[in-house]
Amino acid sequence: MNRERWGNKLGVILAVAGSAVGLGNFLRFPVQAARNGGGAFMIPYFIALFLLGIPLMWIEWTIGRFGGGFGHGTAPGIFHSLWQKNRFIKYFGVIGIFGPIVIFIYYIYIESWLLGYSFFSLTGKYAGITDETGMISFLRGYQGIIHNEFFSGIKTAYMFFLITFILNILVVFFGIKKGIEKICKIALPLLFILAIIIMVRVFTLKSPYNPSWSPYNGLGFLWNPDFSALKDAKVWLAAAGQIFFTLSVGIGVILTYASYLKKDDDVLLSGLTAASTNEFAEVIIGGSIIIPAAFVFFGHNGISLVAQQGAFDLGFVTMPLILKTFSGGMLFAFIWFLLLFLAGITSSISLAQPAVAFLEDEFNISKKKAVGIFAIVCFTLSHLAIFFLAKGAVDELDFWGGTFALVVFATVETILFAWIFGIDKAWEEMHSGSDIKLPYVYKFIIRYITPAFLLFILGFWTYQQAVPTLLLKGVHKENIPYILSTRFVLVALFLTIAFMVKKAWEKRNI
Ligand code: PFF
Repeated sequence: MNRERWGNKLGVILAVAGSAVGLGNFLRFPVQAARNGGGAFMIPYFIALFLLGIPLMWIEWTIGRFGGGFGHGTAPGIFHSLWQKNRFIKYFGVIGIFGPIVIFIYYIYIESWLLGYSFFSLTGKYAGITDETGMISFLRGYQGIIHNEFFSGIKTAYMFFLITFILNILVVFFGIKKGIEKICKIALPLLFILAIIIMVRVFTLKSPYNPSWSPYNGLGFLWNPDFSALKDAKVWLAAAGQIFFTLSVGIGVILTYASYLKKDDDVLLSGLTAASTNEFAEVIIGGSIIIPAAFVFFGHNGISLVAQQGAFDLGFVTMPLILKTFSGGMLFAFIWFLLLFLAGITSSISLAQPAVAFLEDEFNISKKKAVGIFAIVCFTLSHLAIFFLAKGAVDELDFWGGTFALVVFATVETILFAWIFGIDKAWEEMHSGSDIKLPYVYKFIIRYITPAFLLFILGFWTYQQAVPTLLLKGVHKENIPYILSTRFVLVALFLTIAFMVKKAWEKRNI
């Protein structure tokens, strides 16, 4: 079968960078940094970038291109191409379709709030609110959790969700070149411009309360290194988790994008360029917005305020409040939400592609049908996030899809590539068609350090988080039925995909 292809090299780099640059860069990163001691967080963060993030980026580009050569765009088929003798490995690949769907169904809902808030910033709907409590109440009203003078129920949120959902489906429907690549070529440069405008605005802010609360002093929090935290395993886990999430690696998405490359297309320089673009957006721009802005407004307490808030609430409560205090505030708030929306949509379309590619590649059905099935399933599943938000469903989805699935998948793909496919063949495959030659030390890193690091994280995570989470530790009693139903749906989804893999391979053997 003739598979789709990217238009050009810049297009695929921007699409991968578009997937990577997302809410994770502007919202999750500052919160993680603030929670884990700022300058203490940045050291494990950079170590994880060089020992996990960048190697995984290269691995996924390479195995994606490799599997694409056999007509497979998703992990079950790609894993099977790497280890053709093994009949079982394809089932590990199920995670690479399951994980992106699980992230998609809540990520897209949060993305739709950004569209809503862009609109409210233009219309001035929350312009009269002057404090945190007011903004929180506005957000909870929007989410349909409480009733207030701004919203009656979840209708408005639901409408913005529908618009966002349809936009995502349309982009994916138009395909790799005419949909995803085209949107990313526009949205990514645009969002960089908007982010730089916000960053410059933050750096020209003057504290209304204390002249020493300057944005520059706020930056010191992130950039004064603190080596003492290296002893703390929790900081390492948080740093590694952020690297996975922000680079979109370890979940199956990059391999699908890379499967649309040609056999002799470069992967190493392109992967590195996409990763560097993401890091620029994260540590340079993402690190210079929320933290310094909160510092200008709240001083040293601002940082702990950032640390205490949920990763996503922060952008909807604290940032607009800060921005709108200063002149032209609502316009800057609009730019802030629009930039986040653009960052969100270029990420969510990448989460949709694996499931669509799986249906197209393995069942030989048309794009229209594949997108239709995906849309119906995800539309239905998204209601878990919409209606059970206050019951903790989003956190639950984020844990299994955005954390656990990721570490397991990354470990499997790395061992498969470096040990089963074999490091010599792997190294050769990485360099085939490449525009750069990697330093030899990376052969050693990919063979030993990355898998060891991953196994350590997997072990520690299972012990520290998966077991207590599985046993529902810390879940409010009244939320238990909702969490259990969410879990039930997740198990059913996983088994359905596994069953489909079985069927697809049975058909092929005939
Ligand atoms: N990298 C995205 C962000 O930083 O927001 C989130 C994401 C997208 C994670 C796609 C995983 C993924 F496959």
